[in-house]
Amino acid sequence: MRFDILTLFPDIIKSYINESIIKRAINNKKIEVNIINIRDYTLLKNGQVDDTPYGGGRGMVLMCEPVVRAIEAVKDAEALVYLLTPQGKTFKQEMASKIVNKTKHLILVCGHYEGFDERILNFVDGEISVGDFVLTGGELPALMIMDVISRFIPGVINDDSFNNDSFSDGLLDFPEYTKPREFRGYKVPDILLSGDHEKIAEYRQAEKLRVTKEKRPDLLK
Ligand SMILES: C[S@@+](CC[C@H](N)C(=O)[O-])C[C@H]1O[C@@H](n2cnc3c(N)ncnc32)[C@H](O)[C@@H]1O
Repeated sequence: MRFDILTLFPDIIKSYINESIIKRAINNKKIEVNIINIRDYTLLKNGQVDDTPYGGGRGMVLMCEPVVRAIEAVKDAEALVYLLTPQGKTFKQEMASKIVNKTKHLILVCGHYEGFDERILNFVDGEISVGDFVLTGGELPALMIMDVISRFIPGVINDDSFNNDSFSDGLLDFPEYTKPREFRGYKVPDILLSGDHEKIAEYRQAEKLRVTKEKRPDLLK
């Protein structure tokens, strides 16, 4: 899977992809993450990429030219291009799975300031939001989406953890415990120490249902 992340703040993306599972996935060539600085695509002097809004009002708006030129520089026939905006469709595990099935090349465009000139929407496949709140920029949403989708790529994480993850079968994951067996009076459930793998699997399935009912009853509807 190839991700192209278009941003005005490349260092935010760089720092994240240089750690842990994503770094390993890149090194093992399971995924490719390219960081494109939108500023490199402006035709204006001094690297200008934004301007004041027509009609007046607060803040600065990202201009069409640098954003569209940056998209065109990396886009190919297979690519899907999304703007990160709080107004887009809310990103969910299911959307990640659909994207993985549709393409191997995802272009994510991070906004900043007051956001994008509306006309940029004519040059992309859609908008994605990561929730009903407003962040200062699209970098965290882009990283979240890249990270979630990467976990779908075989070999990035182990299949067992992927299959048991929350939302993969519509339920939340079962509770996990590690050493010690007892912490300040709180004990690990006996069944997990029994060595009976069949019983443990049954118990975990029941626990998935229990925690989903308790924490996210909406998922069972
Ligand atoms: C301050 S926000 C602009 C918000 C815009 N004025 C609005 O109210 O719809 C700046 C940028 O952060 C990103 N952003 C903020 N919240 C987001 C969210 N919930 N999901 C995805 N991107 C978001 C977008 O790229 C956006 O262009």
